[in-house]
Amino acid sequence: MVECDLLIHSAAQLLTLAGGPRRGAQLGALGLVADGAVAVRAGRIVRAGPTAEVRAQVRARAELDARGRVVLPGFVDPHTHAVWAGDRAHEFEQRLAGATYMELMAAGGGIMSTVRQTRAAGLDQLVAETRPRLRRMLAHGTTTLEAKTGYGLELDAELRQLDALEQLAAEGPWTLVPTFLPAHAVPAEYAGRADAYVDLVVDTLLPAAAARLPRWAARNLPVFCDVFCEDGAFTVAQARRVLERARDLGFGLKVHADEFVGLGGTALAVELGAASADHLVYTPEADIAALGQGATVAVGLPGTPFGLAQSDYTPAQKIIAAGGVLALASDLNPGTTWCENMQMVLALACRYMKLTPSQAIAAATINAARAVRLEAEVGSLEPGKQADLLVLAVGDYRQLGYRYGGNLVQTVIKAGRVVVENAPAGA
Ligand code: NIG
Ligand code: FE
Repeated sequence: MVECDLLIHSAAQLLTLAGGPRRGAQLGALGLVADGAVAVRAGRIVRAGPTAEVRAQVRARAELDARGRVVLPGFVDPHTHAVWAGDRAHEFEQRLAGATYMELMAAGGGIMSTVRQTRAAGLDQLVAETRPRLRRMLAHGTTTLEAKTGYGLELDAELRQLDALEQLAAEGPWTLVPTFLPAHAVPAEYAGRADAYVDLVVDTLLPAAAARLPRWAARNLPVFCDVFCEDGAFTVAQARRVLERARDLGFGLKVHADEFVGLGGTALAVELGAASADHLVYTPEADIAALGQGATVAVGLPGTPFGLAQSDYTPAQKIIAAGGVLALASDLNPGTTWCENMQMVLALACRYMKLTPSQAIAAATINAARAVRLEAEVGSLEPGKQADLLVLAVGDYRQLGYRYGGNLVQTVIKAGRVVVENAPAGA
């Protein structure tokens, strides 16, 4: 008999997502156990399987009856820009009147608008504006998230965003993985001098951020560096300079690629062994083939074209056919996608990326964990892993994706502790 702190039992459907990240056509394997149970000790899973089997092996101090419910891993959101100040509601209106996202950016708005607001904010304000977003994400089932800097674009303001992330990571209960994104836009003071800004990034900003890597390593968390590789942002050559320097300094790598134009950012990501290439709307065929061969996770962000009212989405079926590892993320940011709800992302992915609910769930759990290199810790319900799990108000996993805009999560458990108990959905 194994002593445990909590036994979640009798789940109509337990989705273990066991077996590691899924490549290509394996994506939809949920590891479904009917009448399933999960036993937790000291924040970690000690058993997961049929209720009768688990019960026979453990003695539990507390029990949670999940009868008629789905139990699955907490969502991992591997791409957010969650730390910023202010909002861009005025640009939303301008876009509805016909201005494009990149036109607003070229005119000094867009990302630079949030940069001005974020530079003016102190650390306390940044933390205070970000914390409620993370709480809402948690309430919708996101137990692990990545969050990027990129609204500072100068030394002090970029480091302040990292400080805010460090403070919020320490507060928890979420697991928060930081990404340094100083090459998110060419700041106004470097207009027309992108290479000079890349010099600053490579010579000053990256080394300063790298000095904090040991603090994150002490929490067993990786730190990534990302680049917006796009017409109007950074070329492939500039992205390569940033990423190679970052790699040499010890950062993991990510790339914003092919959001509006297929420049070759995805091929660069695969070549450099990046953890992920993200957006991938206009990805060239050869780069899709490269994803099928390489170790880089393809992260689709369907909230972004939806937020921009565009009709092209990540060609998920091609990525799956090529044998790629597909993940989903929210892209939470004030410009294109203020969406804190991964359930909504799944619903969009089912409709516009043509994923089945089971594929979308795997893409938002175990494969998303791989995109932040935490697949050994989170993203599935297997002995040894963190006990991050969701109890849905419903008994059929296909309700995820099918219903949208609301919250089917009833209970959120992070590291074995109930951290959110939502009002019953009456489902
Ligand atoms: O991933 N495209 C670049 N970055 C974000 C948008 C950031 C913003 O507009 O504030 C994205 O969509
Ligand atoms: Fe993004």
